[in-house]
Amino acid sequence: KRVLSVASEAVPLVKTGGLADVVGALPAALAGQGWEMRVLIPAYRALRAQAADWPVVFRDPDLFGGGGEVRAGMVEGVAMLLLDAPHLYDREGGPYNTPAGDWPDNAQRFAALSWVAARIAREGLEDGWQPQVLHAHDWQAGFAPAYLDYAGARDVATVMTIHNVAFQGWAEAEMLGALRLPAWAFHPAALEYYGGLSSLKAGLVTADKVTTVSPSYAAELTRAEFGLGLQGVIAARGADVVGILNGVDTSVWNPEAEAVPYSARRMKGKAVARAALCAEFGLEVPGPLAIVVSRLTDQKGMDLLPQVLPDFISAGGGLALLGSGDPALEAAVQALVARFPGRVAVKIGYDEGLSHRMFAGGDAVLVPSRFEPCGLTQMYGLRYGTLPVVASVGGLADTVITANPAALAQGVATGITFQPTDAPAFAEALRRLIALHADPKVWAQLQKRAMAQPVGWETSAAAYAALYESILRA
Ligand code: ADP
Ligand code: GLC
Repeated sequence: KRVLSVASEAVPLVKTGGLADVVGALPAALAGQGWEMRVLIPAYRALRAQAADWPVVFRDPDLFGGGGEVRAGMVEGVAMLLLDAPHLYDREGGPYNTPAGDWPDNAQRFAALSWVAARIAREGLEDGWQPQVLHAHDWQAGFAPAYLDYAGARDVATVMTIHNVAFQGWAEAEMLGALRLPAWAFHPAALEYYGGLSSLKAGLVTADKVTTVSPSYAAELTRAEFGLGLQGVIAARGADVVGILNGVDTSVWNPEAEAVPYSARRMKGKAVARAALCAEFGLEVPGPLAIVVSRLTDQKGMDLLPQVLPDFISAGGGLALLGSGDPALEAAVQALVARFPGRVAVKIGYDEGLSHRMFAGGDAVLVPSRFEPCGLTQMYGLRYGTLPVVASVGGLADTVITANPAALAQGVATGITFQPTDAPAFAEALRRLIALHADPKVWAQLQKRAMAQPVGWETSAAAYAALYESILRA
């Protein structure tokens, strides 16, 4: 059985966030379920050299202002399809923007990706491979199910996954023709959205099934505060909307494979990793060492740190933060270093290796998100016995069992959750962290439970496979 996955990023080739991790992990997870998944992404400048000698398996001479070719190759066991359309993707900068801002032609750039995906679904590749299911991820792939639907192509089933509803792929109404969308679709029941177009909405109304990356987020998305304008569209899909929790790659995120290995049964290495991390960051922390590895955006709640840290630090806590994003937030967290010397360290940037050392060496990972479709770092925290302190939203609520008296009595707690996402609730969670950490027996029990929590892909891969099966055409 064959499924084509379409997205704007995939590990290990290009990543700006968890989307890439998930898109990169699904093929191996689904292989175990009898599904062969190939992954189509754009051939951004940095990827072109790697794909230069891969065979061309699909051609489209007329791709929104230039020609395009799809090249096929294996990357770390994943069957990748790179859409090489230099006029759209061979550019300096990130997948979506340069430091100066978004690419002005992003609508065309990702409509082209979706167009090619829909064509591959209908016509197959030159090597004879043709998918039975097309799985589109986020707004960048939203037009893929729509193009299929508008062409009346009924033999390929479609799934639209929402990784983050905050990005909706909005474009001016005048773009309709240029994006090869039929005039009749400019309608509130189709892809019209606040006077313009939304590629995400187009996918949401045309795909056979809609999924999102946690059950709680699926429920939240039907409410205005989380649906961000699309709540009605999502609610209207009713039982066609399914929440399937993300997993993490447990071979990559494995404390037994770190520089100083440790496991739930032999925790000594974690103390060594903690000491090394403190030395690396110039920290001396008597109480719990909290870590943050995150994009610095409004979603992630990092603006709350300056308000909650003073009490946490005076109670003995410390913080090591790795992240990048919004310049104002970067400045705000950097200002904390001078305020709390030896207790707070900040590294602005993106550093995979350092993030591993932080999960190994930290005591707790903070994820105070305002919304979180799934979140991956709280799951890394569970796996590493680095206890998650998380806002009780979306996937965070679905993956962490808070250390309340009942959960402690039952021995099932794995972290601390708080709500709402504001400074008083976050501060209270940090007070609980201090108290739990001060009791070595309780702390050790929490770590043990956290590390025993299954965070791999097994359950969710089976759920995706069952979903594909349920929509397969005869
Ligand atoms: P989101 O996709 O909303 O950013 P997730 O928690 O799903 O949130 O995924 C974020 C991913 O990016 C995780 O794998 C996390 O470890 C990684 N990450 C985020 N910021 C950094 C950074 N500065 N350095 C290294 N890895 C990072
Ligand atoms: C998005 C969400 C994040 C989720 C990731 C992968 O980036 O913000 O919560 O884990 O997608 O699905």
